[in-house]
Amino acid sequence: MPAMPIGSMLFLQAAQSAEAGRNSGKRRTAVAPLPSETPAEYWDRAYSDPSLVFNTAPNTFLTEAVKGLKPGRALDIGMGQGRNSVYLAKLGWDVTGFDISERGMELARKSAAAAGVKITTIRASMDDFDYRVGQWDLIVATYEGVSWLEAAVKGLKPGGFLVVEGYSKHPQAPPGAAFGPNELLKLFMDQNLHVVRYEDVEAEPEWLKLDRVVRMFARKPN
Ligand SMILES: C[S@@+](CC[C@H](N)C(=O)[O-])C[C@H]1O[C@@H](n2cnc3c(N)ncnc32)[C@H](O)[C@@H]1O
Repeated sequence: MPAMPIGSMLFLQAAQSAEAGRNSGKRRTAVAPLPSETPAEYWDRAYSDPSLVFNTAPNTFLTEAVKGLKPGRALDIGMGQGRNSVYLAKLGWDVTGFDISERGMELARKSAAAAGVKITTIRASMDDFDYRVGQWDLIVATYEGVSWLEAAVKGLKPGGFLVVEGYSKHPQAPPGAAFGPNELLKLFMDQNLHVVRYEDVEAEPEWLKLDRVVRMFARKPN
């Protein structure tokens, strides 16, 4: 993902979960990027801020998508604090996650230890990560854009699944993680993926207080 979009993120959701937040009033904290800092420095600073409590609830679209799937090898792109990795590991998936933020992955490892599960964490950028060929049964990326799509599709096993959630295009949404009308659908169709479920709906995204979310659940042909 290009530096600017993620670095320009202004608000981090610090609620326990989207649903809990809806009921209890979300606590949001502005984390403005400093002019000189890299995205990794920005995210390290955010994840080290003791006043922020990061969401540990898994992404709901992911939980629905994996229902009934046989656990295998999963890759979590931009795993952050590890909420999706830990959820999948608890279901029996063999999970590898990567992120540019070591501090985010520290939270992920703590959360995995607290849940009594094992996850593998790797410090890497989505643009440099080695997705390899035919390795993964499931690739997940929530709020990470899809600059990695072509490489990751090669990394998926035939019949493997991809789950993506992101922002709908909006002036306040990071452009690299936001999609215009049917943009995500076209990108996935260009990769010859079977679209299992696609949504572009009015809903509050998990990391910014906006009003539309785009979601994709797709499968690589056998
Ligand atoms: C909005 S958070 C989403 C975290 C996680 N996917 C989730 O939904 O809980 C964005 C994450 O992307 C990571 N990130 C930003 N740029 C990245 C890059 N180029 N490669 C890998 N991770 C990146 C950040 O460190 C941060 O953890």
